Amino acid sequence: MNKTSEFDIAGSAVSDMRVAITGAAGSLAADIIPALLEACVELVCVDRTKPAKDLGLEWHICSINDRDALKAAFVGCDAVVHLAGIPLEDEWERILENNIDGTQAVLDTALHAGINKVVLASSIHATGFVGIPADEAVPADVRVRPNTFYGVSKAALEALGSYYHDRYAMNVICLRIASRFSEPQNVRMLSTWLSPEDAGRLFIAALGPQATGFRTIWGVSRNARGYLSAEAGEAIGFHALDDAEVFAEQISEEAESNPLAAESQWDRKYLGGVFSSDEPPLQPYSIDNQEPHQTEGSNK
Ligand SMILES: NC(=O)c1ccc[n+]([C@@H]2O[C@H](COP(=O)([O-])OP(=O)(O)OC[C@H]3O[C@@H](n4cnc5c(N)ncnc54)[C@H](O)[C@@H]3O)[C@@H](O)[C@H]2O)c1
Repeated sequence: MNKTSEFDIAGSAVSDMRVAITGAAGSLAADIIPALLEACVELVCVDRTKPAKDLGLEWHICSINDRDALKAAFVGCDAVVHLAGIPLEDEWERILENNIDGTQAVLDTALHAGINKVVLASSIHATGFVGIPADEAVPADVRVRPNTFYGVSKAALEALGSYYHDRYAMNVICLRIASRFSEPQNVRMLSTWLSPEDAGRLFIAALGPQATGFRTIWGVSRNARGYLSAEAGEAIGFHALDDAEVFAEQISEEAESNPLAAESQWDRKYLGGVFSSDEPPLQPYSIDNQEPHQTEGSNK
């Protein structure tokens, strides 16, 4: 397959890879699956549910905590993209089961299937209590300072990835995704937005040959107001193209009448925004222009 793709920025490096993608029925997966297919990646989908639209892909309906089912899904795969999990704050028991035990099951099953590349969906909330610096970019390996149980689960996901790398030489790329949305929803996202197209570029780069070892990478677009360093992403071949600034006028007009679009004091203080406030929301804000799934992106 010689097809060139706007997403396949690392050349044909990911073409013909067979990749298992967990959480394949989710909203982030809906953004990146077209990019992966365009880059000629063969996908094996894993989720406990199926999306409304049949994508015509190999599908394994199971929990990621079902290791036998995961083992069957991972046969012949070159890499795993692990997205499945609870994408926002929840009760500890559910977070523990789905996000922490589930991630360990994915990494361990990948190891025993002989897979040596796993891309993990981490989150900016693993570092939610990191302060926003006045005039420098936050490096992608800034230490974890989670702001919620959800953030703790992403810190644990990164720690598990680090463990499987150090002990078993697995290549584990943790993507600290900021605000993945079709369009920025509020003033904060003018800094933290990750466009759907850049999300595709990010995951392709993470699967590519430059992404080796254990790394944490910011999942963020090239936003003029951004404060998350692009350096680690550039090093693996992730060159974001989109800039939230094109929505700046629209967002500031919206912010005049809609407090959810305005910038809060927490947005100015911490990477985790309102999730780092005294009362982190359990449920996403209600925003008119919602994604098909409500995710942490809703109030990022
Ligand atoms: N969307 C964002 O802005 C964003 C930001 C940072 C991190 N992330 C991370 O990216 C990943 C995907 O997020 P999303 O927005 O697509 O969420 P989503 O809720 O739309 O998708 C998650 C998918 O995982 C599946 N799932 C959950 N637990 C499972 C389990 N135990 N077994 C099998 N399937 C299970 C769900 O059925 C769902 O289809 C999550 O890990 C999330 O934490 C997302």
